[in-house]
Amino acid sequence: MFNFVFQNTTKLVFGRGQIAQLQTLIEKNKKVLVTFGGGSVKRNGVYEQVREALKDHNTVEFWGIEPNPAVETLRKAIKVGLDEQVDMVLAVGGGSVLDGTKLIAAGIACPDTDAWTIVKTGTATKQIPFASVMTLPATGSEMNNGAVISCHETKEKFAFRGDYPVFSILDPETTYSLPKHQIACSLADIVVHCFEQYMTTSGQSRVLDRWAEGVIATAMEVAPLIQADQHNYDVMADYMFSATMALNNFIRMGVTQDWSTHQIGHELTALCGVTHGESLAIVYPGTAEVLREQKKAKLLQFGERVLGVCEGSEDERVDQVIAKIEAFFKSLGLATRLSEKGIGVDVVEEIARRFNERGVHFGEAKNVTGDVAREILMKRL
Ligand code: NZQ
Ligand code: ZN
Repeated sequence: MFNFVFQNTTKLVFGRGQIAQLQTLIEKNKKVLVTFGGGSVKRNGVYEQVREALKDHNTVEFWGIEPNPAVETLRKAIKVGLDEQVDMVLAVGGGSVLDGTKLIAAGIACPDTDAWTIVKTGTATKQIPFASVMTLPATGSEMNNGAVISCHETKEKFAFRGDYPVFSILDPETTYSLPKHQIACSLADIVVHCFEQYMTTSGQSRVLDRWAEGVIATAMEVAPLIQADQHNYDVMADYMFSATMALNNFIRMGVTQDWSTHQIGHELTALCGVTHGESLAIVYPGTAEVLREQKKAKLLQFGERVLGVCEGSEDERVDQVIAKIEAFFKSLGLATRLSEKGIGVDVVEEIARRFNERGVHFGEAKNVTGDVAREILMKRL
């Protein structure tokens, strides 16, 4: 285990009816910019709950933060926040609304810096306080300090880091209205978040190995239960909490991380519009295959402890584990091949070119260059 310092400052407010807590979580003397996506919150009752809880607060609304939030939209929200002189921002919606809100909070705090410049530097040095009511369990954004922003003009998608949300409210009942495809994408996202922090170097931390295995096993266990009944509170609560625990920096303490699947997936989203979770379902089996030697001990451990893969030679077991991971994504109804999305070699070459031009070295061994990304994607045609 490496040395590490851990501090996660988000207050997590979890459970049925908890949106009402907004009334006391936000001081009455604060002017709040409340941000939304395209309107799902108006159809599932979340908007009414937020309005009711904030009826005595001074609020301004900004609507229209799209999935894979675009800097072009967020610049408009930053202007509203500055014109209205708001003190904090409250995101109500999925990971995109919250990620966008993290950039809005940075843009308001640094009015002289263009929002895309903040993203490209990788770190927001200053943000006004922000918080969330999260309605889609997937990104962990509700309890982490990252955000991923797209630029339509350049067809790029990059992450930046900054502060943690002051608080996040998670009511599992808000997930009852999620479209089935969105749930599938989010389950793939949760599982791959764990893989990015677990399927790396072996023998680093017994605690975190078992923690990550527990979160992945939970996501895999609830997947068919959600398909059977999306209104089962306890199932949706486990689903929602697993998303938070997969990416709130707990399972990365003192261990190496990969993230190459995410980096490749972001390119598929930026260039072809593939939904985030589905991009990971397509790429991950290729990452595991191309890097199977360096990940072998972890693939075998995962196979034995979570998937019950215990028979055969080491190579045969690794094959079985990768096949079972792909089968899990397929069981969710997700595409696992580029061809299913109409994506061909031209896009693969563009991603390899971009990565080589940027001189990237992703992954726990820093060996995923543009050429290795090409190799991974060619296995997924
Ligand atoms: O926009 P509205 O109308 O609200 O509808 C949304 C959107 O269309 C809908 N939705 C959300 N909650 C709902 C609901 N529909 C019905 N009922 C509900 N309760 O779902 C659609 C997708 O929402 P989005 O926020 O885009 O999904 P998600 O939460 O998966 O966020 C994806 C974004 O997060 C980034 C991704 O790259 C992508 O841009 N990520 C952020 C991370 C982070 N901050 O740490 C890490 C992740 O790896 C990821 O990269
Ligand atoms: Zn993700």
